[in-house]
Amino acid sequence: MTDADISMQSPREATPLRVLSGIQPTGRFHWGNYFGAIRQYIELQNVGSSFYFIADLHALTTVRDPALLRSLVRDAAIDLVALGLDPTKATLYVQSDVPEVTELMWLLLTVTPMGLLERCHAYKEKKSKGIPADAGLFSYPVLMAADILAYDATIVPVGEDQVQHIEVCRDLANTFNHLYGEVFTLPKARVLDGAAKVPGTDGFKMSKSYDNTLDLFENPTVLRKKIMRMTTDSRPVEQPKDPHSDHLYQLYSLVASEEKRDAMADTYRAGGFGYGQIKKAIADASDEFFAQARDRRQVLEADHGRIEEILSDGAVRARVQARAVLERARKACGLDRSVQP
Ligand code: ADP
Ligand code: TRP
Repeated sequence: MTDADISMQSPREATPLRVLSGIQPTGRFHWGNYFGAIRQYIELQNVGSSFYFIADLHALTTVRDPALLRSLVRDAAIDLVALGLDPTKATLYVQSDVPEVTELMWLLLTVTPMGLLERCHAYKEKKSKGIPADAGLFSYPVLMAADILAYDATIVPVGEDQVQHIEVCRDLANTFNHLYGEVFTLPKARVLDGAAKVPGTDGFKMSKSYDNTLDLFENPTVLRKKIMRMTTDSRPVEQPKDPHSDHLYQLYSLVASEEKRDAMADTYRAGGFGYGQIKKAIADASDEFFAQARDRRQVLEADHGRIEEILSDGAVRARVQARAVLERARKACGLDRSVQP
């Protein structure tokens, strides 16, 4: 295909591979966020062009303390860069720094059936528990659709829980395209590796809602104490155990080298070990695994202007892209005066 062919195509078809994902700054990142999502986003920064953002507008539906929100956004940005997100490869920005997205959201809202949003799980769950939901939570999937469509994203890596929202995004893009012409690129969800269902300190799924997290940048002494206090099963020391059914082994596997992981599996199968020994091994392996990220984080934290520079540079690049798509959408639905009525 020649350049001329490409320029003749509609914007939808000419779009190259573009990865986009967002993460809400609703708490400090934990191992579940890293192994279940962030690590995989970072790997994808080497594939095509990529956009990653901190979804502060989405977080407003739950975080209502301005000082806390400010510090969570800054911490999230520092954490992502410390963990390996490279701002020279990927565009890293804060969602609210791109106001084009919220304008695009309105255009999409005008083609969004109420019934579609009523079926979305975040809203449905709250409603079924009798918790009052606001219009922000109700229309959350439309903001998410605008986040994606504004950048002509083709691949959206997300956890299983977000797949429904990508379907909504595709639905809305299709409806808009059907009404007004080929404006939006249809994205595809890339479901993150389900194998990384990281267990928490109590053996259930790690989540900040269950207070069972190991935070990535927790003070090392505090983290070690948390690890040493983790729940264990009550089988006798001498009994051989299946490593894969034990959350301590699962956590160890995430941070240990392959060799050490295999040796640990053998220890489980042989029996005769104490859980204290395993917990110490988890803490040691975690210290080593996150050492580099921890050092990078310290440097970024000390250099006050650096993260701001990364985010404002990211916002400039993101806005160029979002503005082009918004212009396309505005024109398509008649919100411009370039054509004589
Ligand atoms: P939390 O459950 O702590 O509120 P979030 O819902 O903010 O976490 O998580 C953001 C993303 O991190 C999710 O979409 C999911 O992909 C990933 N994630 C969170 N917890 C885990 C876990 N325990 N195992 C695997 N992935 C997880
Ligand atoms: N809703 C997502 C979550 O809670 C975060 C998010 C917001 C997002 N906008 C997005 C993810 C766009 C992917 C694409 O995890």
